[in-house]
Amino acid sequence: MRILVTGGAGYIGSHTLISLLSKEHEICVVDNYVNSSPIALDRVRRLTNHDFEQHDLDIGNGPELSNVFTKFQPEAVIHFAGLKAVGESERDPLLYYHENISGAISLLKAMDACNCRQIVFSSSATVYGEPCYLPYDEKHPLAPINPYGRTKYFIEEIIKDWTKTDNNKKAILLRYFNPVGADNSGEIGEDPDGIPNNLLPFIAQVAVGRLEHLNIFGDDYDTRDGTGIRDYIHVSDLADGHAAAVNYFTKMSGVEIFNLGTGNGISVFEVVEAFKQASGKDIPFHIAPRRNGDLPAYWAESKKANNLLGWSANYTIDDICRDSWHWQSKNQEGYK
Ligand code: NAD
Ligand code: UFG
Repeated sequence: MRILVTGGAGYIGSHTLISLLSKEHEICVVDNYVNSSPIALDRVRRLTNHDFEQHDLDIGNGPELSNVFTKFQPEAVIHFAGLKAVGESERDPLLYYHENISGAISLLKAMDACNCRQIVFSSSATVYGEPCYLPYDEKHPLAPINPYGRTKYFIEEIIKDWTKTDNNKKAILLRYFNPVGADNSGEIGEDPDGIPNNLLPFIAQVAVGRLEHLNIFGDDYDTRDGTGIRDYIHVSDLADGHAAAVNYFTKMSGVEIFNLGTGNGISVFEVVEAFKQASGKDIPFHIAPRRNGDLPAYWAESKKANNLLGWSANYTIDDICRDSWHWQSKNQEGYK
């Protein structure tokens, strides 16, 4: 299939390219590198021995985006491009509403202009908000608790409305849990700008000596060891979920929503222990106050994806830490 991938140079996008290229899909990447490096794309080419189109372009640039669509004539779009830092979205909500929502609208318009009617969208478990029950299934009420999460919720609604304008339009909304780890080559991985916001890249930078110690945000939650619990999914499993989603277009109409997670919750202490084992390094930590807006625990019900997409997560937390360590130790300064 001819697939246009927005944000393909990013963390999840670059891993997804590996899955798609290995299945012989024809790819065109659009990225403005606001949070990524084109080096990731070169490495994907080398790893897969496949070439693809690449455009240095902001998806908000409607005329240029339409040109790319007209030339490439994609049969489907996978839409990763967007801003994703929760704290930044609270400090500058308009930036997030503008970039993420206007970006999505600009993309849907370009799709309309060239009759491209299939989209896979990167949504997030963050759309669920405070759990009414666990694990979250796709029918759980939606109540995102920060502007970033609300952009995901609003874009889901916009895409649903977009599909209603034509019986042949199809959308798959993928709600990711916590994507972590790296391709097992150690050649591509997560390369956050500045001090990482997220647990795994933070631990990896402590292990490699770039940061002194980890702050564990709270050890007094009502969980089995007092620390926060999340559903950590290996980014290569997540990538394969996109390839499975693209295959599912022929079996569906309208909109389908899938959680992509492992179904298991892992605590912060358990992640630290697994990373120590995988790296052979000590991970010094301090117990810090709870982080504002953090939920104590959540994990996925992913049976719908297992049953309909024929997809499931295979990697364990030990695999995740091994691959994350491999990437970080091989690329101490990321792509720089
Ligand atoms: P990322 O920042 O590594 O990748 C996003 C990519 O989009 C980057 O390459 C960036 O340069 C590009 N981009 C951003 N704005 C753009 C624009 N206006 N025009 C063109 N390119 C643009 O993030 P990621 O972790 O790979 O996440 C990909 C998607 O998945 C995002 O939409 C994110 O919100 C979503 N998601 C991520 C997580 C996570 O924890 N990583 C969890 C749930 C959902
Ligand atoms: N944590 C620490 N110290 C750190 C970073 C995190 O103790 O330095 C803890 C958090 O308190 C939480 C757990 O590690 O209990 C995971 O935190 P992350 O920041 O890695 O991930 P979140 O679950 O907060 O959020 C992530 C993405 C969001 C996305 C969400 C989807 O950052 O964008 O998963 O479930 F929406």
